[in-house]
Formats: sequence, structure tokens, C-alpha cells
Amino acid sequence: MFYPEEIIEDVRRKNDIVDVIGASVRLKRSGSNYQGLCPFHNEKTPSFSVNPQRQIFKCFGCGKGGNVLTFVMEYENIGFPEALKFLADRAGVKLPQADYSEAATKSAQERAGLLDMYKKAAIYFHNTLKRPEGAEGYKYLKGRGLSDETIIRFGLGFSPARGTNLYKTFKECGYSPDMIKKTELFSFDEKDGARDKFWNRVMFPILDVNGKVIAFGGRVMGDALPKYLNSNETRIFEKSKNLYAMNISRKTKEDYMLLCEGYMDVIALHQAGFDNAVASLGTSLTPLQANLIARYTKNVYITYDSDGAGVKAALRAIPILKNAGITAKVVNMEPYKDPDEFIKNLGKEEYEKRINNAVPGFFFRVKQTAKAYDFSNPEEKTKFYNEAARMCLEFEDEIERNTHIEAFCREYAVPTESFNKLVNRLAAGIDIDKTLYLSQREPIVRQNQETDKYNKERLECEKLVFTWSSLDKRYAYVLKKYAEVDNFQEGIPRKIAEEQYRRNDNGLKMISPASLINLFETTGEQAFVSELFQADMWEQINDDKVRDKAFADSLCKILLLSSKDMSKQPGLSSEKLKQAMKLKNNIKQINSLVLKELEKLK
Ligand code: UTP
Ligand code: MN
Repeated sequence: MFYPEEIIEDVRRKNDIVDVIGASVRLKRSGSNYQGLCPFHNEKTPSFSVNPQRQIFKCFGCGKGGNVLTFVMEYENIGFPEALKFLADRAGVKLPQADYSEAATKSAQERAGLLDMYKKAAIYFHNTLKRPEGAEGYKYLKGRGLSDETIIRFGLGFSPARGTNLYKTFKECGYSPDMIKKTELFSFDEKDGARDKFWNRVMFPILDVNGKVIAFGGRVMGDALPKYLNSNETRIFEKSKNLYAMNISRKTKEDYMLLCEGYMDVIALHQAGFDNAVASLGTSLTPLQANLIARYTKNVYITYDSDGAGVKAALRAIPILKNAGITAKVVNMEPYKDPDEFIKNLGKEEYEKRINNAVPGFFFRVKQTAKAYDFSNPEEKTKFYNEAARMCLEFEDEIERNTHIEAFCREYAVPTESFNKLVNRLAAGIDIDKTLYLSQREPIVRQNQETDKYNKERLECEKLVFTWSSLDKRYAYVLKKYAEVDNFQEGIPRKIAEEQYRRNDNGLKMISPASLINLFETTGEQAFVSELFQADMWEQINDDKVRDKAFADSLCKILLLSSKDMSKQPGLSSEKLKQAMKLKNNIKQINSLVLKELEKLK
């Protein structure tokens, strides 16, 4: 750990999780929790939950979770020390000089090392452009209409013929084979050893918002496949959290941004004077990227390819942007394929006109939908109106909804009164739609691989006893009295029990999940800990007696399963074996003892 535990706890307690998360996610109260749309994955129905009492959050869609520090680490894409500093500043706590442990120092050094290596690689690729072996790359970029100034501004480069050029460069700089491997810029095989992953490609360095090189895209010369190769994710690079050219665009004086599909589109636009163009990195737009944009502007012009794929991508991006509070408009590139080709053929002024004529996201969707219907057929026409009415209903804000209804009616010459009736009728039935929708939720992508390491049944019981010990101190007391640290599964559950017992030395101290989370370093572990405190059966059971029984049963199940597990271990002493047998025979008695004890403590 970087700082003394008390300091971390102090900072954590002074930053209420609902306040902190509420600043970036719209939260609504729901029972004892708050709910909202998860900022870490794309969803239409909320599965992101924040618990003010336990001071933890959890997404039941993507599995992310933890305490307020975890949230800041994930959301801001920063490490633990930075997150701590951020929250300390927010709460006005002065942090002491950091006490760097060995592991922390190593981890910080590794990050710094990778950043350094990516910077060196970018310089190497860029310098190659001016060397004989890079002449072909330089010619290619010039041939695509880029000026020397643009090539320099974007740090473009070239990686020459198949081989070990970059590898050698790193070797000469004295980097260890281990660090070189961690860059993910090489492929290794038995026969040839290390080889540069990128060869015969013009290189586009990808920079984070602070202008640090964190990845590369490489475009092949000619028609080979894949056309673009992107470097792998590493400790310094997460695709879903970065946007190409954001380091430049965030400083624009314009109050909007241009969202493109390709690196070349971004570069062509910047060269034409639009210093506010960005692109996602070889994937469709993610909610985190939308949030990143939302920090700088609330207006986005989508300027994707004019082909079917581009239209589809735009239709997907509009609601993601909307969830981030951004108003999107779609720029029409016809008859050209993409902004790069458009600018080359028609120039800057014409592109500006297209921006001014961009279609609001809502109308873009309506128009795309309209294409699917034959308006000469009354039945199909009605179906189309129904779909349009449904889209209007997606605006939760009444004024916004009415503005869109009116605009739709004007555009499609529909009497406002009758269209309003249609909208209201649909609204009345919307609950049915919603339940239908719930059962068709996006498939759950579990990101937490921690769970797979443990026995499921045992884990469910551990979840219950941990969660309930964080809600009622009687349970915390009984837990310590009847279960030993070794009775919990090795790994995180055991570590939690150990720490809780240490803190709870005089017996009646509830577990504080949010503070336990600080013991774990990775956000994956933190999400898992948060999950261990999500046995929400508590709210379904109102009767104290029933609760006590469920607790006693779970506790006994833990004892049984753990002794079963122990007796399977090779080389078990006969004494231990006897103990296990005894436990099995006495489990009923233990169960009633636990119940009596709980009754007494009331
Ligand atoms: P496009 O193929 O539309 O790119 O892919 P482009 O900018 O028009 O390419 P040029 O003009 O032929 O050079 C758009 C983006 O999709 C990703 C890249 O990020 C690219 O910029 N992509 C495309 C890949 O990741 N891999 C591919 O093979 C192709
Ligand atoms: Mn192109």
C-alpha cells in the first residue's frame, strides 16, 4: 500500500460514494440503493447500483464494482495513488508524503517504462520516414495529400520491411527482454525469436489526452490485409477509454467535436482546419469514450462513412452519446465515402456547409426507419408512425419530447393532435414494453474472472455471512466466534475474514466493506470484494427469526464444506481428520448454539 491505512480510510469516508458517482452518472433512488445506467458498458436499462449504507457500487451487467476509490480509478482511468489524491483534494484532506512499498514502486516503474518505450518507438518510426528505408512510407503519406506539417503534428511514421528493427532499437537502449515483451509490439516464435509486429506499414501513434504515446495503428501499404493493424492493449492502453486526436481536439475553441471512423479522416479534417475531429480506435464508440467527449463539449457531429456500415455505426452511436448528455447530429458525406475523400474533392467550405446542414440524431433515426416502409400502403405508414412515436417517448424530459413531436409532425405533415394521441396511447402501454424489454436485456458480459476460482456453493454462503455481518453486529460477533479464518476459501474470502477478525478484536464490530476494499490492489479484485457484499436477500427477508436461521444455516454450511475440503487434502493428520468427523456429527448442535447466541444478543 502507498499510504497508511488510516489516511486512506479518512479520504474514503470524507467522499460519499453517492455524491462522487452522482457527479458523473444520473442516479435514481430505488429502495435502499441508487440506480443508474452503467458508465462502463452500454446499456438501456439500469443495472448499475450504488449502496449508500455500505458505500460500494456494483454493476450487475458488466461486473464492475468496488468502493469510491475503485470508481474513480475505473472512471478516470488512473491508478490508486492518483485516485487517492483526486479524492483527497475533493475533500480537502492533505496527504502525507507517500510511503512507497516495493510492489508499488515496481508497478509505477513498469508504467513509466512502457510509456518511455512507446515514446521511443514513435520517435523511431517517425525518423524512419526521412531515411532511405522509409522513403516508400513518406511517399505514401504525401500521395494521400498530407503536408510535412501534418505529418509532424501527428507524429506519423513508417515501420519498414519485416524484421527486428524496433527490437534492436530497444535492445540498444538497454531494455530488459521482459519489458520488451510487455510492450506487445513483438511476436515471438521458437525458430526466429522476436520479430517486430508492425512492418511495411505507415504508423499512426495513438496518444492519450495528456499527449503520451500509448499505442499504434499501422496502415498497410497497398491492398494487403488487415488494412489497419492496431497494437494490443497493455497496462498503458485501453481501447475503450481513448479517442484518436483527443489530445489536440480537447483544446479546440469550437463548441462541438467531429466524430469520425478513421485515423485518416481525423488527420484530413485537422489539416483542413478542423482542430476538433476525433475517432474511436478500431471499434465502435463506447460509453466511456462518450463520457470523455462530454467533459469537453455537449455537441457532437457524427461524420462516419456514408456506406451501410457507417449508417449502422451512427445509429448505434447516437443513443450512447445521448446517455452521456451529448446532442448528436449526423453529417452527410454523399456522394463521397468518408470525410477524407470529401475534403479532397470538395474542400473545406463545402464540408462546413455539410456541418451546418447536419441532421439531428432523432431525425436521422426517423429517416433511416422511414426507408423500411412503403408510404403508399396505409398499413405500413401507420407502422412507421408507431415507430416514430416510440422514439419520441425515449425523451424523458417533457419539453424535449414535445419539441420533437412537433418537429416530427411538421416534417412529415402529420396533424399534431392525432400524433400526440398515438404517443400517449403508447405511453400508457409503456410498462408492458418495459417488462418485455427487461427480459430481453443485453447479454450479461461478466468481466470478473475472480468468481471462477471459487466453489460456487461455498461462495454463496460466504457472501451471505459477510454481507449480513456488515449490516448487523450480532452476526459479526457470531461469525468470529464460530468460524475460523481457515474455514473460508483460500484467496479473497479468507483474506477478508482475517482482516475482519483482526479489526473486530473485541467482538461486536460490523464489517465495513468499503474500507476492506482498500486492501486489494486491482480493480478486478475490488469488484469481486464488492460482489461478496451483495447478498441482497436481506431486503427480501423482514423477519428477524428467519434471518437468524438463514445466517446460522449459511455459517454451518461453510463449516461443513470447509471440513469436507480439508479432509480431501493429502497428508492430513489423523487429529485433523477426527476434528472434521466430529464437526460433521455435531453440526446440528452448532446450528442451535448459533441461534441461541443470536437470540441472546438481541
Ligand atoms: P476505414 O477502412 O474506413 O478507414 O476504417 P479509412 O480511414 O477510410 O482508411 P483509408 O482511407 O483506406 O486509409 C476506419 C477505421 O477502422 C479501423 C481503423 O481504426 C480505421 O481507421 N480499422 C479498419 C481497423 O482497425 N482494421 C482494419 O482492418 C480496417
Ligand atoms: Mn478513407
